[in-house]
Amino acid sequence: MDKLAIQGGARLSGEVRISGAKNAALPILCAGLLSADTLHLENLPKLKDISTSLTLLGHLGMQVSLDDQGGVALQAAHLDKLEAPYELVKTMRASILVLGPILARYGEARVSLPGGCAIGSRPVDLHIKGLQAMGAEINIEHGYIHAKASRLKGARIFMDTVTVTGTENLMMAATLADGTTFLENAAREPEVVDLANCLIAMGARIEGAGSDVIVIEGVDKLHGATHKIMPDRIETGTYLVAAAITQGQIRVLNTRADIIESVLDKLREAGAHIDVGNDWISLEMRTRPKAVNLKTAPYPAFPTDMQAQFMALNCIAEGVGTVTETIFENRFMHVQEMQRLGADISVEGNTALVRGVDKLEGAVVMATDLRASASLVLAALVAEGESIIERIYHIDRGYECIEEKFAQLGASIRRVK
Ligand code: UD1
Repeated sequence: MDKLAIQGGARLSGEVRISGAKNAALPILCAGLLSADTLHLENLPKLKDISTSLTLLGHLGMQVSLDDQGGVALQAAHLDKLEAPYELVKTMRASILVLGPILARYGEARVSLPGGCAIGSRPVDLHIKGLQAMGAEINIEHGYIHAKASRLKGARIFMDTVTVTGTENLMMAATLADGTTFLENAAREPEVVDLANCLIAMGARIEGAGSDVIVIEGVDKLHGATHKIMPDRIETGTYLVAAAITQGQIRVLNTRADIIESVLDKLREAGAHIDVGNDWISLEMRTRPKAVNLKTAPYPAFPTDMQAQFMALNCIAEGVGTVTETIFENRFMHVQEMQRLGADISVEGNTALVRGVDKLEGAVVMATDLRASASLVLAALVAEGESIIERIYHIDRGYECIEEKFAQLGASIRRVK
């Protein structure tokens, strides 16, 4: 199994290009199921989660043709199967995103209950309740969700927890429903907006994406379209924290500053100098970072997917910072690994108290989930000596060419067997 070997100590400098957003691409690929015509997507990131999703869509009977420029053409003229099996769903929770589209277009779907990252129980009850409110008959049998509805009906749906993929699944289902659907307490994440923009290009009638009430007026069918996937805000934030932690100076290209304001604010608070342009962000850190306090919450607040990276920053910062996780239980699995690198962290409930130390020391550590693994790369970049990060298949789920991109910024990093 591949590992990453990182020699700490280099200050990052230079430019790095950001890939298309994984969390926008995953629902948008599933949107291809809603139409018989071809959906062309650009800026698709090359990631394990994307190939898992394409395998699932191919298994269902969708025609998938990739080009070598990050583009893909999807055509679901008809599907061979209406079932997403456990073997394909277990590795990626976002596979649940096929449920709404298949049910809406074909009147029936069977989707295995998902697995995915080990970061808490992560139920899908709100996806199910929303589809039931739209008239679907749903049974859970043998680990599968079996949903039926000759045609979904528009409904008023209040989600009592903000759920990103829940909002996306129901929004896709509602595009082909009979009547108008109101999604209340909807997720406001930029990826929800990107999906809505793609659906609108396909002929859907959607208003309010990006606010907490999304109104979808169902139509009889959707048509083909071309859509460019938005930049990955979590990858963007990860490289910016990497520059800050190493007291470096970098420019991140092909991205947007308006979608990571809460992250930029925290980086400024840590002492970083930040400039932004139309599609780039530059960061310079001239001194040791200052510890920051943060609490994760749904967009536009601080993203849970950036929590571990800021924990790494606090590990070597001046002062003491608290990190509070409110979205997922069990999302502090990186703490033990950071302690192996010499970090001073104590956890009480959903809050971690991080006392900055003068230096971390290289060690062998294990990646436990996608974002935790990125935080270990950041910690290793400032640790004295060599660190080995094991189980980096977690990183490959969400970061395109991570070692090439870091090496280009001057880090000493290589993939080893
Ligand atoms: C998405 C992102 C993930 C990010 C997360 C939170 C994708 C593919 N993944 O995950 O990277 O970390 O948002 O920003 O976009 N919940 C329920 N019932 C449900 C659904 C969710 O109780 O039916 C709870 C979850 O357990 C969690 C909270 O709602 O506590 C938020 O989860 P959710 O927004 O659904 O996360 P994902 O969409 O899976």
